[in-house]
Amino acid sequence: MLSVREAGVNDLLQMQQTNLWCLPENYNLKYYFYHLLSWPQLLYVAEDHKGKAVGYVLAKMEEDDVPPHGHITSLSVLRTHRKCGLATKLMRSSHERMVETFDAAHVALHVRRSNRAAFHLYSQTLNYTIRDVEKGYYADGEDAYDMRKTFAEGKAGVKEALGADAAPVGASEAPTAPR
Ligand code: ACO
Repeated sequence: MLSVREAGVNDLLQMQQTNLWCLPENYNLKYYFYHLLSWPQLLYVAEDHKGKAVGYVLAKMEEDDVPPHGHITSLSVLRTHRKCGLATKLMRSSHERMVETFDAAHVALHVRRSNRAAFHLYSQTLNYTIRDVEKGYYADGEDAYDMRKTFAEGKAGVKEALGADAAPVGASEAPTAPR
């Protein structure tokens, strides 16, 4: 059985390890603590039946900007647990709290142009749209899509979307998926 829950301080090392396995964009542990201490409502982990973390979303608020909005710093799910709906559930959980707790007007993120899996998740599943292409955004020179999802209907809209799409997280063995 796979589930998604709020992250706590004991999850940070496993989140960092998952990030190291899944993405070339990595952060020191201090940066994970900074997110947790500043916006504890926005960090979620996915765990397997043994309580082992198999995915995470690391998110924050841009509170000095007008209007205040959320930002997805990083999202990963272990290869062994992909295509079970975990990333969708992690993202929706964080979105909901951005609106409920911080009254976020929208949420933004960057994703590599070549990242088909993540691009499908953001554009098709979660209805993000491309705002811009940032040339050479990544350290290896790849471009990023700057994407945004507007919380047009505020708290009621996010709750409704979560309720409608709240399919249970798949419990079956996940096929591996290329990045
Ligand atoms: N190719 C095409 N579509 C895919 C793929 C793939 N390889 N993998 C998943 N999808 C689709 C699913 O079919 C589903 O579509 P649907 O809603 O139309 O049915 C949708 O994406 C969401 O699927 P989930 O099961 O919720 O996603 P998953 O748990 O597999 O995680 C993720 C997706 C996070 C992109 C995962 O592949 C991963 O960890 N990749 C490596 C790390 C990464 O790229 N992270 C994102 C970087 S950008 C950032 O962090 C802001």
